[in-house]
Amino acid sequence: MGSSIDSPKKTLAQALVVGASRGLGLTFVRRLLETRISEKVFAGCRNPGAASGLQELGILYGSRLRVLPMDVTQERTLADAAKTLSTELDGLSLIITCAGLLHDEEGLMPERRLRDVNAANLHRSFAVNAFGPLLVARHFSRFLPTRGFCVVANLSARVGSIGDNQLGGWYGYRASKAAQNMFTRNLSIELRRTARDVICVALHPGTCDTDLSKPFQKRVPPDKLFSPERAVRQLLGIITNLEPADNGRFIAWDGQTVPW
Ligand SMILES: NC(=O)c1ccc[n+]([C@@H]2O[C@H](COP(=O)([O-])OP(=O)(O)OC[C@H]3O[C@@H](n4cnc5c(N)ncnc54)[C@H](OP(=O)(O)O)[C@@H]3O)[C@@H](O)[C@H]2O)c1
Repeated sequence: MGSSIDSPKKTLAQALVVGASRGLGLTFVRRLLETRISEKVFAGCRNPGAASGLQELGILYGSRLRVLPMDVTQERTLADAAKTLSTELDGLSLIITCAGLLHDEEGLMPERRLRDVNAANLHRSFAVNAFGPLLVARHFSRFLPTRGFCVVANLSARVGSIGDNQLGGWYGYRASKAAQNMFTRNLSIELRRTARDVICVALHPGTCDTDLSKPFQKRVPPDKLFSPERAVRQLLGIITNLEPADNGRFIAWDGQTVPW
């Protein structure tokens, strides 16, 4: 990876952002468009009709933004979106999956102890956090160019590091991100067979001020809580400075390697 994490080196002409309705995903879409790192952005989200942030960007950027319905737990929606894309583009230089789940209104909260664990919540966490990015790669990696700089990035989390786990708890989120990391590492090996220059990475964005972290922000010092804009600026600095040797790495917002 190049030395600067803040200054984009490369452009990514056509990008796909999945989980783009809010939080970091929406911020990636906005920043890719406003900086012109990408000329065209495809944004996948569960419910385009309710994605007001994307609708506002659509008014600003017109045909440079294309919103597609995608629920990473409903594989059919990914297959349909890929079919639509195949008629509208010739290649993707960035696929970034931001869809993630830590808590929800159906009673999912990170487990504090073993007795909080239940199968339904584990299934939901794995469906979004682990299987989601893998299925996105399954349906969209065919749009990566056979040669030339391109990136597959999956938003992971430091708490998914097995080696770094000193606190325990958060069984479903931690383990689903650890599984996601294994999928990303596998992808970094297999995707090179068809996209020779692809760089496939797991990224830790730091703790960011989004809906996902809201219930857990109290104990985070203000200088350790990044605005989505700052987090995305940092991560795009990393993405656009990636080099071939970075393929298969788990990288934090500051460019440091996170232990598996
Ligand atoms: N925020 C942090 O502090 C932090 C720290 C470490 C890692 N991360 C990771 O960064 C990523 C982005 O997090 P965030 O902070 O932006 O979270 P967020 O604000 O809660 O946004 C989550 C996004 O994921 C989408 N999503 C959830 N389930 C989905 C599904 N089945 N199909 C498609 N999209 C789905 C949501 O869409 P809807 O609007 O449809 O619900 C929303 O756009 C996640 O992978 C998260 O684990 C975040």
